[in-house]
Amino acid sequence: MSEVEPILKIVAGTKTYGGVHAIEGVDFDLRPGEIHALLGENGAGKSTLCKIIAGAVQLSSGEYVLAGEPVSFAAPGEALKAGVAMVYQETSLVPSMTVAQNLELGMEKLVTDFRKINIAAQQSQQSLNFNVDPLALVETLGTAKRQMVEIARAVRHDARVIIFDEPTASLTPEEIQHLFHLFNRLRAQGVAIVFISHALEEALEMADRITVLRDGKLVHTGPAKELERESVIRLMVGREVTAMNKVELTGESPAAPETPHVHSRVLTVENVTMGSVVKNMSFSAYAGEVVGMAGLVGAGRTEVAQIICGARKRNFLRGGLILLNGKPIRYRVPRQAVRDGIVYITEDRKLDGFFETMTADDNIYLGHLASPKNRRWLYSRKERKQVSDRWVEALGISALKRSLKIIEYSGGNQQKVVVAKSLAQDPKVVIFDEPTRGVDVGAIPQIHRSIRELADRGMAVIVISSYLPEILSISDRVLVARGGRIVEEMASSEATEEKIMYAAIH
Ligand SMILES: Nc1ncnc2c1ncn2[C@@H]1O[C@H](COP(=O)(O)OP(=O)(O)OP(=O)(O)O)[C@@H](O)[C@H]1O
Ligand SMILES: [Mg+2]
Repeated sequence: MSEVEPILKIVAGTKTYGGVHAIEGVDFDLRPGEIHALLGENGAGKSTLCKIIAGAVQLSSGEYVLAGEPVSFAAPGEALKAGVAMVYQETSLVPSMTVAQNLELGMEKLVTDFRKINIAAQQSQQSLNFNVDPLALVETLGTAKRQMVEIARAVRHDARVIIFDEPTASLTPEEIQHLFHLFNRLRAQGVAIVFISHALEEALEMADRITVLRDGKLVHTGPAKELERESVIRLMVGREVTAMNKVELTGESPAAPETPHVHSRVLTVENVTMGSVVKNMSFSAYAGEVVGMAGLVGAGRTEVAQIICGARKRNFLRGGLILLNGKPIRYRVPRQAVRDGIVYITEDRKLDGFFETMTADDNIYLGHLASPKNRRWLYSRKERKQVSDRWVEALGISALKRSLKIIEYSGGNQQKVVVAKSLAQDPKVVIFDEPTRGVDVGAIPQIHRSIRELADRGMAVIVISSYLPEILSISDRVLVARGGRIVEEMASSEATEEKIMYAAIH
């Protein structure tokens, strides 16, 4: 027999939420020592399938077979004991505990010997080639290090299956390489790895096999070698999708000099300095224009955006000037910035993007009401419907799901609601931070078109993105940040991936 016996099988797996299928009749198998990529559009059921495997969600019908035995896990702790671990889209560690304590979660003894767990933690970090202090509190760690702790925890529990939900979404290219290196080492030890990704190139490169889900159904499983980008996209969306081309301009080019709203400088940032992260940063944004801000993670882009919109405490600011339409501004809280028409669309939707237990319609309508000119005494159902209809359609948010609470949305659809909510505020300046992170390739053009429309309507738009094709496709002008300052500026007509990369690194 040439086929390897699978370590895990889901047979005719179905999960319904209130009668709606999240996944339906899925036959999935995983082999020891393979890296298996799970791909699909936003809401296709990827996270659901993974949560079922990890015991966080239970099948409505179908079978789960682990190492030849039917199993049914009531909680993630049970799956972990059986050797199935999951590294979540949003991390599952306890922020107020140390790294060492987190590694022991689920294995606690009655009395914790701190010395012992710290030593064990140190050893496990070393064996994985990680450099994380066991005594550090998890809340002080960045994304990459938190992920390392989760991986170390899985290894500590002798996991035979490790599942990663979008592990590379917030990592630098270097950190991604490190993670993939680790995948290879775990594979060599016979561990089976499942990872979800919206970056098709990395899935094609890293995975042994690829499974594609569409509308909750499994539409393809096969060797990665036999697939290429275009065929994967076709499987994902069930139709052809054009590449990330320059966004088509509606009507007149916003950069045309005769367009009246262009060339008025809306936002000026002058020599702004904060801590060690932002150093003498200077740039401007003009009405009717999309400025792309490229750079590596850690170049100070998010921080300067947070200073502008009042999300950072003022006393962090060491110097410099920020002007809105020529008047100096300095906000203590984001609400003041919103009142003046400055909106920042965060990269961290979980933390400050929206009200999780409200519906998408309510979130979008609240965004609308936050704008001073739309302030109302009464909450109007009719107006709520009009406003949310418009954005739901513009961003392709599935209409079926609109009565769901935001926490019941898939990750990528949550991101679309965050964008819709902010756009409904009808701002003067919009700063997007990684606007399409976690959004599937099919939906990215919709978000890009909406961004372009904002500029066409006369807003000054800044887009922070680490993804160069995105920067190139939506920007009129490209800024490159490095080490806390803007080091390069170019017109989009002269910008290339190579030039931007060079400026970002050198
Ligand atoms: N707790 C829940 N209640 C209701 N519906 C849910 C719940 N969790 C998920 N769903 C629905 O199940 C479907 C699949 O969601 P899932 O999170 O698995 O998608 P995904 O493939 O991971 O998408 P993304 O790429 O956006 O992360 C979606 O339509 C989602 O709205
Ligand atoms: Mg998901």
